[in-house]
Amino acid sequence: MIKTKITEMFGIQHPIIQGGMHFVGFAEMASAVSNAGALGIITGLTQPSPKDLANEIAKCHDMTDKPFGVNLTFLPGFANPDYPGYIDSIVKGGVKIVETAGRSPEKFMPLLKDAGIKVIHKCTSVRHSLKAEKIGCDAASVDGFECGGHPGEDDIPNMILLPRAAEELSIPFVASGGMGNAQQLVAALAMGAEGINMGTRFMATKEAPIHQNVKDALVEATELDTTLIMRPLRNTERVLKNTAVDRILQKEKDLGDKLQIQDIFGEVAGVYPKIMKDGTMDAGAWSCGMVAGLIHDIPTCKELVERIVSEAEQIINERLNKVQVA
Ligand SMILES: Cc1cc2nc3c(=O)[nH]c(=O)nc-3n(C[C@H](O)[C@H](O)[C@H](O)COP(=O)(O)O)c2cc1C
Repeated sequence: MIKTKITEMFGIQHPIIQGGMHFVGFAEMASAVSNAGALGIITGLTQPSPKDLANEIAKCHDMTDKPFGVNLTFLPGFANPDYPGYIDSIVKGGVKIVETAGRSPEKFMPLLKDAGIKVIHKCTSVRHSLKAEKIGCDAASVDGFECGGHPGEDDIPNMILLPRAAEELSIPFVASGGMGNAQQLVAALAMGAEGINMGTRFMATKEAPIHQNVKDALVEATELDTTLIMRPLRNTERVLKNTAVDRILQKEKDLGDKLQIQDIFGEVAGVYPKIMKDGTMDAGAWSCGMVAGLIHDIPTCKELVERIVSEAEQIINERLNKVQVA
């Protein structure tokens, strides 16, 4: 057993979290991860309304007795979801853990804290992590340049970002981005993290409620198969290369600084259901981390979590102990 401040804070068995994922983080995903002793997370905004989120939370309660969380992603200015409504569903649904991401959750902290909710904010920089600490977040999920999804604009990989976070932060943090195996869990612990957050790796599991084509694509992909899009819009996203992504990159090259989100709407807007549900792999751009290069199988969530933890224990007890003796 690996016990850390994060397992204690969230009342979970293993120091592993499944980050919120658009059109992946349904009750089936979150409950499978939580039943494996890690922390599953439902993606709030994948549900079209607060009422739908309430139903998804109720469904997840039916599928697990273990703690699970909800992700609330605060999107850039142009989108304006009913955040107070979603928070109301979270509070009334008895969920005690919220993963926030994107913009600062400052405005909504009183609503969350008054309901006794633990907040873990996902940050791609030390300065954002410090801000999260200052506004009362209980923990941070420090998301390195390797990550699937939005790595921010600083491009600092976890080998630097995590020890920097350890230098500055007082609240506990987990390592996010690129995580997928036992070696990385041990390294993350060594660099000061209290556990790991995984997105891409959890997509390649039996229970992930997504099309088999997506899982197969992750097994086939190598660490060379992701790329960054939307950098000219300062909304950089790491995605798996495909023909839609090729088109985006060509438009970015052609339009340069003149690129606007409307120019790539066809490749990024509303594409997730086509990919995740229908398995149409070239329908658009979808978030995927470099960790794809370390994904070689499609285990159950329980097999994956137990493998990571038991191999991590082995590395600590055998390999690291021997290094010390030598
Ligand atoms: C398909 C996919 C969708 C994602 N959607 C969201 C999201 O809606 N909100 C969010 O905060 N993070 C989202 N993420 C990021 C993950 O929660 C997590 O931070 C990230 O995947 C960690 O990097 P990794 O993929 O290398 O493990 C998504 C990631 C993936 C792969």
